[in-house]
Amino acid sequence: MSNIKSYEERLQGFDWDYAKEVLDWQDGELLNIGHMCSDRICAKGHADKTALIWEGFGDATAQYTFNDLRVLSNGFAKLLQDQGVEPGDRVCLFMDKVPALYVSFLGALKMGGVAQPLFSAFGDDSLEVRLASAETKAILTTQKHVKKVRKILDKLPALKTIIVVEGNPAKLKDGELFYDMNEHRVEDFECFQSGPESQSVLHYTSGTTGQPKGAQHVHSSVWGQALTTSWVLDLHDDDIYWCTADPGWVTGTSYGIIGPWVLGVTQCVLDSGFTAARWYKFMQDNKVTVWYSAPTAIRSLMRDGDDLVKKHDLSALRHLCSVGEPLNAEAVVWSEQVFGKAFLDTFWQTETGAMMITNYPGMKIKPGSMGKPFPGITAAVLDLKTNEPVDEPGTVGLIAFRPGWPSMFREYRNQHDVYRSKFVGAADDATPEQCRLDPDLWYVSGDRASIDADGYYWFVGRDDDVINTGGHLVGPFEIESALIEHEAIAEAAVVGKPDEVNMEVVKAFITLHKGFEFDDMLELSVMNFIRKSLSPLAMPQEIEVMEKLPKTRSGKILRRYLRSIEWGEDAGDLSTLEDD
Ligand code: WT7
Repeated sequence: MSNIKSYEERLQGFDWDYAKEVLDWQDGELLNIGHMCSDRICAKGHADKTALIWEGFGDATAQYTFNDLRVLSNGFAKLLQDQGVEPGDRVCLFMDKVPALYVSFLGALKMGGVAQPLFSAFGDDSLEVRLASAETKAILTTQKHVKKVRKILDKLPALKTIIVVEGNPAKLKDGELFYDMNEHRVEDFECFQSGPESQSVLHYTSGTTGQPKGAQHVHSSVWGQALTTSWVLDLHDDDIYWCTADPGWVTGTSYGIIGPWVLGVTQCVLDSGFTAARWYKFMQDNKVTVWYSAPTAIRSLMRDGDDLVKKHDLSALRHLCSVGEPLNAEAVVWSEQVFGKAFLDTFWQTETGAMMITNYPGMKIKPGSMGKPFPGITAAVLDLKTNEPVDEPGTVGLIAFRPGWPSMFREYRNQHDVYRSKFVGAADDATPEQCRLDPDLWYVSGDRASIDADGYYWFVGRDDDVINTGGHLVGPFEIESALIEHEAIAEAAVVGKPDEVNMEVVKAFITLHKGFEFDDMLELSVMNFIRKSLSPLAMPQEIEVMEKLPKTRSGKILRRYLRSIEWGEDAGDLSTLEDD
């Protein structure tokens, strides 16, 4: 393929302005992601090109051109304006992967709003925490999920507008607005004149302590997203691209909306539960050429066997990438056998906004390695004790990046201290902007890795207690806080335990209040309680009752100790464990 170059060629004289080349960008154009993904593509002569091929449960299907995206997103932008939503206001998008999600994402950005997509399987507690933190002004949801919003409305004084798409308008409550996308086609809309530092997308991500943090992104993230989409996902005009991620998570926005559409590429969305047969059929029917997925999905496909693959014609597939969890070498080898292509691993985070360490076409691939830093990214592994970059190949340390790449998050919403704590060497009073622009600092990712003699990165594990289940991060603190809301539970500690497909699943250790007996009924009740209030991802797959939880002398619960037992690691002598 013509634009494939070697790693070294890509690196030579690298400049982020290469993104402008791949976008055919002229200085002075409007830097607004909503506009760039729709109006701009139409203006370049692709108004009638298919933008979205959508399939839902059963045999529901729909297709939208870039012109459809343009007028529909105009319509949503105008609707928000008419409701009094202003530039800078947070607009939450809380629904399954229905077409309105994609349209409203662009529409919110077009009117200057901050798009805040949330995973539709979130229960009311997960939703409340994120809407309260964001002081969200408007929410778009579906009839299926609006009940969860109604339940917490009293606690969200900033939330003024509730818009419901799909379902029966007669079933709405007072004050809720029904939105039929096709009734809101608007030819001309004057987009908000955003600039590079205007806020664009807000994604919540979980940490070890405290509630989830809102990673704030800006419109100039598009330079990083466009260039990585072009060089790593290798998207071309005639590709049919499928990103399996949900836009409730950053992969689903950076590479499931922004990356492909700013380049004017056709993408497919499958909004139905996972089965290997459905996935293969979807790829066969739509002649998918480029596929971006996650190790958990690949492991599930592997488990379902090679025969199923052989029953489908997947000959259009030419390029496969993966993100979210360590991609084991077996999965790479398997994909090469059955698809004739190896999955290329990419490493990044909600905070980084775009791929950071990657394999890509033109590079030598070492199965099991995440690859090398993307050009323009200065990465290192920092020594666990000194925080200095390690010299010796194979030494395990913290993955770190020099700040300042275009799609880097600009702050954790209202949590500047936490933002600052992610930068090694930052002064106590450094502002987020100072952290971002200081070339002597290191942004520390929270993951451990080593670098081999050829400069390839090898993932080791997380450096904190965050649980990665099937490529989704869940924070133990959020689950522990919810568990002790259950009437039977006195104390709780939550850790990840190994799982063949999902890598990790949630395990809870609890102590019970007096008078409660742990039996199957109670176990089920606790599991359901978490599934409903938080999400199916956060639901403990195993619950162990203890007489008391292991603690330090000052009373801090020793999650690490419990985790090491689960993973069969040497837990050390409990009596010697001190506070951090
Ligand atoms: C965390 C970020 C941005 C992608 C979606 C997840 C883990 C991500 C890899 C990989 C091993 C990976 C890390 C990272 N992770 N990619 N290729 N190999 N681990 O975004 O929810 O912010 O999670 O996912 O632990 O810090 P996220």
